[in-house]
Amino acid sequence: MNTSIDSITLVHPDDWHLHLRDGAHLAAVVGHTAAQFARAIVMPNLKSPVTTVALARDYRERILAARPKAGAGATFEPLMTLYLTDNTSAAEVAAAKASGFVHALKYYPAGATTNSDAGVTQLERAFPALAAMEKHGLPLLLHGEVTTPGVDVFDRERVFVDSVFAEVRRHFPALRVVFEHITTREAAQVVTEAPANVAATITAHHLLYNRNAIFQGGVRPHYYCLPVLKREEHRRALVAAATSGSAKFFLGTDSAPHPRHLKEHACGCAGCYTAHAALELYAEAFDAAGALDKLEAFASFHGADFYRLQRNTGTVTLQRMPWQVPAEFTFGSETLVPLRAGESLAWKLA
Ligand code: NCD
Ligand code: ZN
Ligand code: ZN
Repeated sequence: MNTSIDSITLVHPDDWHLHLRDGAHLAAVVGHTAAQFARAIVMPNLKSPVTTVALARDYRERILAARPKAGAGATFEPLMTLYLTDNTSAAEVAAAKASGFVHALKYYPAGATTNSDAGVTQLERAFPALAAMEKHGLPLLLHGEVTTPGVDVFDRERVFVDSVFAEVRRHFPALRVVFEHITTREAAQVVTEAPANVAATITAHHLLYNRNAIFQGGVRPHYYCLPVLKREEHRRALVAAATSGSAKFFLGTDSAPHPRHLKEHACGCAGCYTAHAALELYAEAFDAAGALDKLEAFASFHGADFYRLQRNTGTVTLQRMPWQVPAEFTFGSETLVPLRAGESLAWKLA
């Protein structure tokens, strides 16, 4: 890696947590990710969730068909995941492993987030699938929040650490686990202290913002995602983890597009759209921490190593060159408001 003040070159990075949606929405966003990343772990929470290898095969074909036809993005590779339910069988897990294109299964607590109604209602119900995943070496990706009605929304992840996460670790110590989009000091700490089969993704927006962003001068729905932004002390803990050089932490944007009218709504959807400027946003966060030299391993090495995939070979270059993010993008017949819409970013992908 070559670092100077105004330019940084990285081995081609991957996004280890991405929502691409489907149909016209997929077609609208896949180019952004393909322009930046060689591969991405694609989340399975479609309106009708991707619960089987057959559904994942079809979804993968639709993503490949929607990729840019020319240029760097034409070789973008979607890495598929299955949506874990109470009924996911050990046989489906074995088929997932054998497929070669399913790389993990995703745990959503039922009701926790966008399209999670088919998620796991009680961890025990997923034990047969988890045992099979441990046996076959397929990672479990955790949306790490409890949905217990009495638990404060800002405490959902912290409580998850001591309950569901602890239970997964106790029953399946050899299972490879990714604690997705961590947002708290407690999650960063438990991952740091765990053995090498436990890792975490961190989003750019959780590195850049604390929960004040949601309320600055009025309610700002485009900063609302799940797990919700936390206090400044937590943001600092995430920056420390991401820039620590630890192989347990890697890039996962959780870029989660929703149409403008459903974000700016009386009951607005959770999710920040960051795919349009993902590397630029991470560069800003690492730069602010004086840790640009740690960006390459976080973005390009740790995730591939954890997933036991080859590291990429090409490179990308970021330049310090202010530019203005568009106010919105076309999103099928709707529009999509990206993070930092209409505002300036300091870094630009060359
Ligand atoms: C994601 C989405 O919209 O699919 N939303 C979000 O706020 N992160 C779901 C998720 O990752 O929890
Ligand atoms: Zn999630
Ligand atoms: Zn997500």
